[in-house]
Amino acid sequence: MEITSSLRNYSVDFPQSPDFFSRLLSRFPNHFTIIDENVWRLYGGTLLSAVDLERAAVLPVEEERKSLESVLLLYDRLVRQTAKRNITVISVGGGILQDISGFAASTIYRGVNWVYVPTTLLAQADSCIGGKTSLNYGPYKNLIGTFYPPAEVLVHTAFLQTLQDLDFYSGLGEVVKLAIIGGDEATGEMVRLLPRMLERQERALHQGVHRSLLIKSRYITEDEFDSGIRNFLNYGHCFGHALESTTEFAVPHGQAIVIGMLLANIVGRRRNLLSSDLFDFLTQKLILPSIKVRLRPEQMAVGPVVGAMKQDKKRTGKDLPLVMLMDAFKMAKVDDLKESEAAEALAEGMDILGSAGGVTT
Ligand SMILES: NC(=O)c1ccc[n+]([C@@H]2O[C@H](COP(=O)([O-])OP(=O)(O)OC[C@H]3O[C@@H](n4cnc5c(N)ncnc54)[C@H](O)[C@@H]3O)[C@@H](O)[C@H]2O)c1
Repeated sequence: MEITSSLRNYSVDFPQSPDFFSRLLSRFPNHFTIIDENVWRLYGGTLLSAVDLERAAVLPVEEERKSLESVLLLYDRLVRQTAKRNITVISVGGGILQDISGFAASTIYRGVNWVYVPTTLLAQADSCIGGKTSLNYGPYKNLIGTFYPPAEVLVHTAFLQTLQDLDFYSGLGEVVKLAIIGGDEATGEMVRLLPRMLERQERALHQGVHRSLLIKSRYITEDEFDSGIRNFLNYGHCFGHALESTTEFAVPHGQAIVIGMLLANIVGRRRNLLSSDLFDFLTQKLILPSIKVRLRPEQMAVGPVVGAMKQDKKRTGKDLPLVMLMDAFKMAKVDDLKESEAAEALAEGMDILGSAGGVTT
């Protein structure tokens, strides 16, 4: 798959053979590898055994570490390498590792060659393309960042077999989001694929990842710098980012997004822009089956969630921003969501999640 970008075109390949990583290292003699600590623990003795730890950093991965401090530690390691501007940074891990290492690669020496090997479902199906790198600033999520696509992305779906359930479901949230944004046909395909993806059947995972990337690539090619239709990729994010921050990231990103999609759909249905039939279909067939996290009622409390939504960096006016799904799979971004509507959506969303067993007492 080729992704077109005004910064640099790049390829996404799907190597199947387990020796793909050693072959990648040998193509770039001046490499420095940055690896997610858990991935290193699981694959250091096998798939990643060709890594030279003298020329590698193994990073603990937590949302709190997506910070400038982590980037400074990487700069320290990178400046001590013999290779300078001719270095190739190879990142191996999920979205957090991608964001930290991509930011470092995009800024050191004003940007060095960067190759990304995503290892989570979220990173393989979504974040590996689009060229964004983001850091959190204090409590503010993804406030700092750059646009810097990797030179190559290598997607090896076998990595997904070792993901913890919650991390797998987090990625599924973004996969389902992209299918819905992709329209009627993509949604139907995802409804058929979902049961096999949940069983982590290799072929279904490959298909799900590939289709998600195709849909996302259409949006990022048309609106690379996120000023128009790329906004629709933020479906689920307005409520979702707020839930992530009010729960201090106890609800993982993709799970917050899928709950955010449910809440956005409630607003759409209440505004008579989304039919009850389509609302029910999506809720039953895609949204509820993709939710693994169990919320406590206070985690959906109106005050903190609406308070966090007011901090949304896409907010432009007095009311709140929202990306909405409408009938016939049309999308819209509105800026007039009233706090009272957000409160009603949270209350109804809690009821729906509660009857599906997604709420603890
Ligand atoms: N840059 C972008 O365009 C973009 C887009 C969407 C999301 N994001 C960011 O991505 C982050 C979430 O990424 P994520 O969902 O990949 O989570 P993550 O990077 O936190 O990884 C989740 C967990 O899975 C572990 N892990 C990674 N690969 C594994 C494997 N193969 N087997 C077992 N465990 C593995 C990690 O160590 C971690 O504990 C958020 O910070 C979000 O803001 C960035």
